[in-house]
Amino acid sequence: MPFYHKLGKIPHKRHTVFKKPDGSLYYEQLFGTIGFDGMSTNMYHEQRPTQVKEIKGSYNARPKIAAEHNIKSYRFKGFHIKPEPDYLQSRKTVLTNSDVDIVLASPQQSTKDYFYKNSDSDELLFIHQGTGKLRTHLGNLDFKYGDYLVIPRGTIYKIDFDDEVNRLFIVESRRPIYTPKRYRNYFGQLLEHSPFCERDLRQPYELETNDENGEFLMKVKKQGQIYDMIYASHPFDVVGYDGYNYPYAFSIHDFEPITGRIHQPPPVHQTFETDAFVVCSFVPRLYDYHPDSIPAPYNHSNIDSDEVLYYVDGDFMSRNDIEKGHISLHPAGIPHGPHPGAVERSIGQTETEELAVMVDTFKPLQITEDAMEIADDSYHKSWLDH
Ligand SMILES: [Fe+2]
Repeated sequence: MPFYHKLGKIPHKRHTVFKKPDGSLYYEQLFGTIGFDGMSTNMYHEQRPTQVKEIKGSYNARPKIAAEHNIKSYRFKGFHIKPEPDYLQSRKTVLTNSDVDIVLASPQQSTKDYFYKNSDSDELLFIHQGTGKLRTHLGNLDFKYGDYLVIPRGTIYKIDFDDEVNRLFIVESRRPIYTPKRYRNYFGQLLEHSPFCERDLRQPYELETNDENGEFLMKVKKQGQIYDMIYASHPFDVVGYDGYNYPYAFSIHDFEPITGRIHQPPPVHQTFETDAFVVCSFVPRLYDYHPDSIPAPYNHSNIDSDEVLYYVDGDFMSRNDIEKGHISLHPAGIPHGPHPGAVERSIGQTETEELAVMVDTFKPLQITEDAMEIADDSYHKSWLDH
């Protein structure tokens, strides 16, 4: 997160004596990425964060691949992913490559019995349905429909849902997730032409500090394996921290669309970037205002990126027969474009209510067995007139 945040109590100087009321020391930990070169946070624990009591075992959470090589466009019916009680078990990877996993989940229950840490990936959770609270060792964030939650790798968290009906679209990224560099100045501040600014980004506000000993189960994801680790001290025991590396929230409803006299290209919708993929938000907006403009997109050849669109709400102007929770995959190597009739239908339209999240990956995506179960196998022929 490219701006400074401070929560709880911290000493005046880094790496100096910081005493508890009883005279003993708090334990400092640097929580950083990209070695010591990326963003980092300096935090202070009640107890040493290294007290592993037992490693109970592990299981393989890597998805099973159904199509390693693919040149076919697909539609996946995301809401056909079945709800499951447990948060981690409910997560189904549908598309994957060595940089990214694209995951659908419909968890029914909060994480009661364990803490979770993904040490492989930053996680981007898009909340399609549900409300609740993301609880982390660096503070808490409330979430609701339309929120992106950016959770840097290594963040220890639990997720509390208010009820059983929840739908999440998740991107797990082996590359750090940032806001687009072109929208930031030399100092990292978001510029005036950025479609959002720091005011729209919500920082953790509520630090849970527990000074407890016992047995605390933490499920740690590493190399696609989930390890059950028992810690001897409560993982949420931070009394304070400051720095740049922490989870944050951004609502898609706070994304200010960039519009023009003629069709604007997809990069105007960009919300996040990595060096392996981009994330874009398509939000309700006014259409192009040139008298002869065609609001529907032109056909385009995304020769070197796979395009994934997750449809959230509204009518998606360029597609026929698309519903909430559907995912379209338009693979690299072949052009795609509006469905038959969509260009003509768009002329003269003045606005759209569409809401969608797009992920364009620079490496091709593999299709998993879970995805094939919700796949529409005839979608690739949907551009034919008859
Ligand atoms: Fe496209």
